[in-house]
Amino acid sequence: MPLAASEQAPLVDGLFNMMITLATGLFILVQGALIIAAFRFRQRPGDDTDGPSIHGNIPLEILWTAIPAVMIMVVGVYSFEVYNTMGGLDIMGGHDHGSSHQAHKMRGAAIALESKPNSQTSGKIAQNADPAPDTAPTADLVVNVTGLQFAWVFNYPKSGVSASELHVPLGKKVQLLINASDVIHAFWVPQFRIKQDAIPGRESQMQFTASIPGEYPIICAELCGAYHGAMKTRVIVQSPEEFNTWVAEQLESEEEDEEVALNPQEKSATEFLAPYSQEMAVSADILAQLPHPEHSGHHH
Ligand code: CUA
Repeated sequence: MPLAASEQAPLVDGLFNMMITLATGLFILVQGALIIAAFRFRQRPGDDTDGPSIHGNIPLEILWTAIPAVMIMVVGVYSFEVYNTMGGLDIMGGHDHGSSHQAHKMRGAAIALESKPNSQTSGKIAQNADPAPDTAPTADLVVNVTGLQFAWVFNYPKSGVSASELHVPLGKKVQLLINASDVIHAFWVPQFRIKQDAIPGRESQMQFTASIPGEYPIICAELCGAYHGAMKTRVIVQSPEEFNTWVAEQLESEEEDEEVALNPQEKSATEFLAPYSQEMAVSADILAQLPHPEHSGHHH
């Protein structure tokens, strides 16, 4: 396993270890039974008779259906619990996340109260439902993530900063709202144990709290075209102070960029585009490899 650099990583590792343990146990059990049977009931020299003819065994069939069914249920419930804790389940939230979150929590609270034998009056239910939103996780930082062929763009709605690398403050809960502008991509940070699809026209979500400062790779984990393999960037985990400094620097440089955009005639196309190609993490090599429209059709 790579370094576990988020508070959620141990949850995923726990799930993984449990599944590996179950699978190893099953493997030993099934393969062991096979090997024992092959040796114990093998054909003896000079014996050409068939074994006893058996037509089904109801208790045995119920048993070997029930055991895997229970195991799948346990793994399934555990997986959903981990996925829900990481904020991945609210994928139907769409653009109206605030109210859908609220509706979610209210529904959860209502169900919890309905199952309580002691809540008798509706007034009491309404009173008790109020504190529910406080118990739900609220993020310290929201980041809009957009996948496009072939880069990631990170937008911080609160400050208005946009960047091609993800900067996050250490120990703060980060809410990712993930989207795609062309085809399906997948946002993957192995060290955070986060992998979430980026789907055009549909917002997916994920939450994490970085627990170790450093730089970790962000990788596209869904085949999305010719340069899928090059669709990589970094997440930089820094102290909250360093993060605030970075945000301030970005705001300053974006102002400078606006000044440049207002006077484009003073710069050549190459000069004008240079800072942007760097920002989009597109290397000169990749730009050179892209097919030129005027050249296509001349090759045979
Ligand atoms: Cu984007 Cu693969």
